[in-house]
Order: sequence, then structure tokens, then C-alpha cells
Amino acid sequence: MKVFITGASGYIGGSVAKTLVDAGHTVYGLIRNQEKVAALQQLGVEPVLGTLNDVDILIKFAQRSDAVINAANADHLASVVTIIGALRGTGKAFIHTSGSSVIGDDALGDTISEKIYDEETPFVPMDIRAYRAHIDKLVRRAGIDDWVRSIVIVPSMIYGKALGLPAESAQVPQLVRKSQEMGAGVHVGKGVNRWSNVHIKDLAQLYLLALVKAPSASYFFAENGEDSFGDIAKAISEALGYQGKTISWSVNDAIAELGDWVRSSLASNSRVRGVNARKLLGWEPKEEPLLSWIGHNLY
Ligand SMILES: NC(=O)c1ccc[n+]([C@@H]2O[C@H](COP(=O)([O-])OP(=O)(O)OC[C@H]3O[C@@H](n4cnc5c(N)ncnc54)[C@H](OP(=O)(O)O)[C@@H]3O)[C@@H](O)[C@H]2O)c1
Repeated sequence: MKVFITGASGYIGGSVAKTLVDAGHTVYGLIRNQEKVAALQQLGVEPVLGTLNDVDILIKFAQRSDAVINAANADHLASVVTIIGALRGTGKAFIHTSGSSVIGDDALGDTISEKIYDEETPFVPMDIRAYRAHIDKLVRRAGIDDWVRSIVIVPSMIYGKALGLPAESAQVPQLVRKSQEMGAGVHVGKGVNRWSNVHIKDLAQLYLLALVKAPSASYFFAENGEDSFGDIAKAISEALGYQGKTISWSVNDAIAELGDWVRSSLASNSRVRGVNARKLLGWEPKEEPLLSWIGHNLY
């Protein structure tokens, strides 16, 4: 299959692109940094120089390919509209990448939520994730109205080394850096809040399966385990040689340093179950769980 992927130099996009190449697909990878072009070619990906705002490029490569995977930016509405327009009436697959913070709460690190979501559970996104949830709905709607085989993959907290160009995930590397600065494993507030998580290799396999098998307008949480941020802080602490010592980072200080992202990504609960991936696609994640992975592989 010929697949056009955005975010080809990134953590998710690069990992999925490499996995697709290894599986024998031809991969066109959108990349905006000229300096990374040669390295992308080395991976077997055909670089397409441009950005999400280059409408002509998006249309040309969506039409030239059998499928499109959007892994550059979960919140970029214009590119999603362009890709759907280019694929309308073709029945080709369009996989859009969202994130499980869409169902997250505003716990500020201090409470554990009892709510666990699967793909059938209704939810109202918190204010800073309403836009992302709107884009996800638009993508699914295209699977009903526009004869595009649209698919939304919703990863939880991703961990593991990038499989493509050098890139890192968001939450764990950030916590590791702050822990090194503080000399103890860091969590925000009390750190009782919980997130589901998934290894990047298992996630990339999910994209591969969805590309071939996922029905139109489908929605997949990607998760294979769940931990509290307190336990993640403890594992980081032990891995860094701080003997399990942990420390609370006040939510206000964390937001002052990293912005509102903290509320939805480090201080919230996001507890999901990937029912559809297992049931509809036969997805079988097999990588090491997050806490033991931290013990063996710190950045
Ligand atoms: N990592 C996670 O745990 C996680 C979990 C769930 C959802 N997500 C979401 O998934 C998306 C991708 O995440 P990621 O971790 O793979 O991020 P990443 O490593 O920063 O990768 C994003 C890639 O997209 C490219 N890109 C961004 N904006 C672009 C634009 N306007 N035009 C062209 N290329 C553009 C970047 O190019 P450059 O290399 O030039 O910067 C980068 O290669 C994000 O929206 C993120 O919020 C991430």
C-alpha cells in the first residue's frame, strides 16, 4: 500500500512510518525541516517537504496514496479538513491521531477518578480539549457522510524509544527532566491521579492493523495498562538512583513552567480501555509495562 503520513519526523509519526516501511508499504512522509530529509530517506521513507498548511501538497499526496495517516498535530483542524476533502468519495483510509486527554478531568493531581472510559462511554471534554474532541467527531463523521474510511486512534500516555528519527514522547521525558532537576521523582499535587499507557511499539502495530482492517468511522483508545503519577514518580526516582524518594510539584508552579498542558497531561486522570482495538482488530500488545520499562530504560 502507498501511505502518506504527516509528522514523519516525530515520535508517533516516525515510529509508525518505520513500522509501515518494515511491513513492506511505500511511505511518503511529510517533513518540514530540510535538515532531517536525508535521515528520513535512510529509514526508507520518501520525504515530502512541506507543512500542514501546504494545501496543495496535502491534496497531491493524499490523492497519490492509498491511505493517509495524520500524526503531526491532533489539534490542526485545517489540515484535517483538507485531507478529508482530498479523499472524499474514494473509500480510502484516513487515520487521525488524537489523544486520551480528550476524556481527562481537571483533578490537579489531587484526586483519583473512578471513571474508566471505553469507546462507548459518553464524555464531555474539559475546556482545553473541546477543540480536539470536535476534530475527532469531524473525522468520524467523514466516515459516514463522505465515503472516506475514517479512523481515530486515541493514544494514552506513550512510552518507549522512538522507532524512527530521534524524538521523544511528552509526559515521561518531562517528568524525568524535572526529577533530575529536583533530585527526587516528581509528581504534580498529591500524584494520586491515574493515566492509562501504551508502549510505542504496540501503538505502531495498532496503526498497522487499523490501516488494513478498521471499519469506517471507528474510534480506538490505545492502552495496555494504567498507573498513578505517584507510582511513576517512584519508579523514576528508583531508576535515577534517588532510592524511591518522591516530591510534589505544586500545580501552580508546574503550570507557570510548562503552561496549561500540565492540567490535561500531568495533573489529570485519563483512564481508558482499548476495547475496540482488541475486539475489532485482534490487537495484542506485548511490550513491557510502563513501571518496569522505566526501571530498565530511562532516557
Ligand atoms: N506522545 C504522546 O504521548 C501522545 C499521546 C497522545 C497524543 N499525542 C498527540 O499526537 C500528536 C503527535 O505527537 P508526537 O508525540 O509524535 O509529537 P512530536 O514528536 O512533536 O511529532 C510531531 C511531528 O509533527 C511535525 N509537525 C508539527 N506541526 C507541523 C506542521 N504544522 N507542519 C508539518 N509538520 C508538523 C513535527 O515536525 P518537526 O520535527 O519539524 O517539529 C514533528 O515531526 C500531537 O498532537 C500530540 O499531542 C501524543
